[in-house]
Amino acid sequence: MRTPLVMGNWKLNGTKESVEALVKGLVEPANAASSVQVAVCAPVIFLGQVEQLTAGSKLAYGAQDADIHTSGAFTGENSPVMLKEFGCTYSLVGHSERREYHNESDEVVAGKFKAIQEYGLVPVLCIGESLEQNEAGETQAVVERQLKAVVDLCGIDAFNNAVIAYEPIWAIGTGKSATAEQAQAVHAGIRQWLAAQSADVAAKVQILYGGSVKAATAKELFSQPDIDGGLVGGASLIVDEFAGIIAAA
Ligand code: PGA
Repeated sequence: MRTPLVMGNWKLNGTKESVEALVKGLVEPANAASSVQVAVCAPVIFLGQVEQLTAGSKLAYGAQDADIHTSGAFTGENSPVMLKEFGCTYSLVGHSERREYHNESDEVVAGKFKAIQEYGLVPVLCIGESLEQNEAGETQAVVERQLKAVVDLCGIDAFNNAVIAYEPIWAIGTGKSATAEQAQAVHAGIRQWLAAQSADVAAKVQILYGGSVKAATAKELFSQPDIDGGLVGGASLIVDEFAGIIAAA
């Protein structure tokens, strides 16, 4: 059985004050959810604060991106080694906002995935199609292409220690979640594609759904056989909403 994982993605949000209130509010629901893994992906500047506030709790945390390099002349970047030193368990990689606003190709994303894993973090590979691709019936082809770039570089066994987040771009931040049936169909397709290479990996890997997940919609989404939790943006900034999503898992 796969353990459900509920992960918040704060994106470019937070102040010292709001981070303190949010993390303090989430420690108890995370500790109480004995059969659910809970994590938040914070802006790197808050990671030291999150490390202190989560000490001794079950609330895990991570970054939203990491550089391919470990150190050197790469102004503005953060390396997986640094993230590890700050106690991160996870790092997102290939979020659609990185792919779109920072021109991250499938190959760059695969390189980052490799570096994140190599330095002891669990990569959370974000994949998903645009509205146009969805309407053109290209969803499965898009997610396969995004997965294949990682498998080509790292091998299928890399997914023994990674998480996949399926996030249709048209559902992110729009308030328009995929229906549970729509999401389940894509998740099943992702698992089948992985199973063709390793049944064992496919059976074990957590595949999260992301895109306008709310406490009110989480239960139906998470009750689908191939949806193993959620990657949550907007609703992860509100203690009661995120706690409701944890409870649904
Ligand atoms: P959203 O964002 O929940 O605000 O739609 C999800 C994400 O981008 O990870």
